[in-house]
Amino acid sequence: MSSSAKGKAPANGPATTPYELPWVEKYRPQTLDDVVGNCDTIERLKVIAKDGNCPHVIISGLPGIGKTTSIHCLAHQLLGDAYKEGVLELNASDERGIDVVRNKIKAFAQKKVTLPPGRHKIVILDEADSMTAGAQQALRRTMEIFSNTTRFCLACNMSSKIIEPIQSRCAILRYAKLRDTEILKRLLEICEMEKVEYNDDGLTALIFTCEGDMRQAINNLQSTHSGFGFVSGENVFKVCDQPHPVIVQSIIRACIEGDINGAMGKLNELWEQGYSAVDIVVTIFRVVKTFDELPEYTKLEYIKEIGFTHMRILEGVGTVIQLGGLLARLCKLNMKPELFHI
Ligand SMILES: Nc1ncnc2c1ncn2[C@@H]1O[C@H](COP(=O)(O)OP(=O)(O)OP(=O)(O)O)[C@@H](O)[C@H]1O
Ligand SMILES: [Mg+2]
Repeated sequence: MSSSAKGKAPANGPATTPYELPWVEKYRPQTLDDVVGNCDTIERLKVIAKDGNCPHVIISGLPGIGKTTSIHCLAHQLLGDAYKEGVLELNASDERGIDVVRNKIKAFAQKKVTLPPGRHKIVILDEADSMTAGAQQALRRTMEIFSNTTRFCLACNMSSKIIEPIQSRCAILRYAKLRDTEILKRLLEICEMEKVEYNDDGLTALIFTCEGDMRQAINNLQSTHSGFGFVSGENVFKVCDQPHPVIVQSIIRACIEGDINGAMGKLNELWEQGYSAVDIVVTIFRVVKTFDELPEYTKLEYIKEIGFTHMRILEGVGTVIQLGGLLARLCKLNMKPELFHI
């Protein structure tokens, strides 16, 4: 590469088709104000960012809801220009055995760095649940000895994989799944900035398929936009490759009416499209959960039956007969008991 090309966007084509960043990275929030959802927890982080006395923190929660992003924003807001010298970031792709804790982290903690007054160096341990228990043990004393100069921020999916002694040294912040309205707001902003053409059905489908995971929602938005040029419900389901909830709704409706033949017909349609039993049963669950036409009691019974079937499928019996059995039971649940007198 010639030296003049360094640092620019890769020149992979004519100037009219610039290299496109994944939108998840392009629209990664830069300050805590831009991180959506989990308002109370983010408010706490904002106070820490303002006052400067950052405790050791663990942020835990499901993938794609802003854990890594918030820690980076926090570190940037705390340290400003000193970010480069003041932060050591290690994630699961780095070697993080006992040796690294003993050498690299300790050496960083001992290093003298000029920071804004009242601020501390920060060690970011992303995906900390993948650190071995031994390495976590080695952290215990280090965290204490150097706590006057260095603070630790950990992010993980499961806080139970962090050993108890480390949990007890940290403030644990739990992030919940993002709400539909929060995801919708962000998607609309991105649609606006990227001039994406969409309809309401498309956005509903994105929110339905992402299940509270912002990263997935944004990725699916970008894939649908670049693949089809228009974000409609149908296109989103083509990209996500999940059974279409409208078909699943019609299955449930047939079950409510006791029409097993109708329900089985639709089920076979999905089966022939190649969806696995797990895909289908999970979609049935998600559709039933939000299905307004079902009375509360029936909904609960339906969910119970779906749960049992899900369990059997996970045990290995993922056949169409298993799903057929589920539909038969759902049909029966809504039939009048008198019909069963022999
Ligand atoms: N709360 C949020 N507000 C705005 N954007 C978000 C939010 N959560 C996630 N995103 C988007 O998703 C991308 C991934 O988020 P992030 O890396 O913070 O996820 P994570 O919680 O660390 O997930 P993982 O557990 O997989 O590491 C970000 O680049 C951003 O575009
Ligand atoms: Mg992360």
